[in-house]
Amino acid sequence: MDTHSSASTSSLLSLLLLTLLLVLGSLPSPTLSTSERCHPDDKRALLNIKKAVTIPDHLASWNASNDCCYWDYVECHTETNRIYRLLMYDTSIHRPIPPSVGDLPYLEALVFNNINNLTGPIPYSITKLQNLKMLSIIWTPLSGRIPDFLGQLKSLEYLDLSHNQFSGSIPASLANLQNLTGIQLAANRLSGSIPDSFGRFKDNLYVFVLSRNMLSGKIPKSLSQLDCDSIDLSHNKLVGDASMLFRENSTVRGLDLSFNRLDFDLSNVKFPKNLTFLDLSHNRIRGSIPQQVTELDLWRMDFSYNRLCGRIPVGGKLQQFSYESFIQNRCLCGTPLSDCR
Ligand SMILES: *[C@@H]1O[C@H](CO)[C@@H](O)[C@H](O)[C@H]1NC(C)=O
Ligand SMILES: *[C@@H]1O[C@H](CO)[C@@H](O)[C@H](O)[C@H]1NC(C)=O
Ligand SMILES: *[C@@H]1O[C@H](CO)[C@@H](O)[C@H](O)[C@H]1NC(C)=O
Ligand SMILES: *[C@@H]1O[C@H](CO)[C@@H](O)[C@H](O)[C@H]1NC(C)=O
Ligand SMILES: *[C@@H]1O[C@H](CO)[C@@H](O)[C@H](O)[C@H]1NC(C)=O
Repeated sequence: MDTHSSASTSSLLSLLLLTLLLVLGSLPSPTLSTSERCHPDDKRALLNIKKAVTIPDHLASWNASNDCCYWDYVECHTETNRIYRLLMYDTSIHRPIPPSVGDLPYLEALVFNNINNLTGPIPYSITKLQNLKMLSIIWTPLSGRIPDFLGQLKSLEYLDLSHNQFSGSIPASLANLQNLTGIQLAANRLSGSIPDSFGRFKDNLYVFVLSRNMLSGKIPKSLSQLDCDSIDLSHNKLVGDASMLFRENSTVRGLDLSFNRLDFDLSNVKFPKNLTFLDLSHNRIRGSIPQQVTELDLWRMDFSYNRLCGRIPVGGKLQQFSYESFIQNRCLCGTPLSDCR
C-alpha cells in the first residue's frame, strides 16, 4: 500500500516537475528575476534605448537591477505587464531616435515632447509598432521629410508632428491610416500641396491641422468629404477655392483659413451650422458676406484683409464683433464699419 502510494506520488511529482520545466523553458529569459512585472524583452529594448541616447541623469531610474515597469517615462499595461507607453519629454538627446524603439511591440503611445538636439530621421523600425495608437513628436529640431512609411502604422489614431523642422511634401500614404482621429503637422517647413488622398479620412477625423507651413497649390476638392470638428490650414500659401469646406451640414466647428492666398467668391457659400470659430482673414476672398452668417453661434469671426464688398449682414451675433473683424476689404459697409452709401 505504502509502496504503491509513494510510487504514484513520485510519478505525480515528476509530472509536476516536467510541467514546471516546460513552463520555465518557454519563458524568454530565465536569468531575470521572476518577481518582476517587467518583460525581459522590453527591459532589453529599453536598455538599448538608454545606451543609444546617453542622457544618464534623466534615465537614472532605468537601472537593470530594477523592475522596468517602475522606471520613469514608461508605463506597463496592468494586464499584459508589457511596456505600452514611452513618453519622453523636456530633455536633451544628442542623437537620433534609437531604432530600438521598434523592439517594444506592445507600445501604444510613443511621445517625444520638447527634446533638444534630437537629430536624424524617424527610424524605419517604428513600422514594427503595429499596436501604436499615438505618435507624438513635438517641439524637437527633427528635420528631413516626414517618412512615407508612417502610413504603415495601421493602428494609429493620433499623429502629432507639430513644431519640428520637417520639410518636403506631406506623404499621401498618411491617408492609409483610416483610424486616425487627429493629424497635426503645424509649424514645420512643409511644402507642396495637401494630398488629394486626405479626402479618404472621411468621418473618423476630428482634428485636422496643417497650419504654419509653406503649403501651396489648391485645396483638394476631395476635402469636401471631411467631417472634422476642427480644420486649421492657416499661415500657408494656399491658393484658389476653399468653398468645398463650406457645407451646411458639415460637422466643422472651427475653421481657420487665415493668412493664405485663397481667392474665391464667398457670396454663395453655406456656412456649417455648428460653426463657432471662423477666421478667413488675410486672403483674397471676393463677393459679399452671406446673410446666413447671422444664424451662427460664433464666438470668433474674422473677415478682415480680403476683397469683400457689400453690406455686412445685420442680426445674430454679427454686430457684437468689432470693426477689426471686417477692416481692409474692398468695399464692405454697415455696422460696425461706416454706413453704406
Ligand atoms: C542600480 O541599482 C543598484 C541597486 O539599487 C545600485 O547598486 C547601482 O549603483 C545602480 N546602478 C546605477 C548605474 O545607477
Ligand atoms: C543643444 O541644444 C541647445 C538648445 O537648443 C543648444 O544651445 C546647444 O548648443 C545644443 N548642443 C549641442 C551639442 O548641439
Ligand atoms: C480601427 O478601428 C476599428 C473600430 O474601432 C477597429 O475595430 C479596428 O481594429 C481598428 N483597426 C486597426 C488597424 O487598428
Ligand atoms: C446634408 O443635407 C442635405 C439636405 O438636407 C442632405 O441631402 C445630405 O444628405 C446631407 N449630407 C450629409 C453628409 O449629411
Ligand atoms: C451640431 O451640433 C449638435 C449639438 O452638438 C449635434 O447634435 C449635431 O449633430 C451637429 N450637427 C452637425 C451637422 O454636425
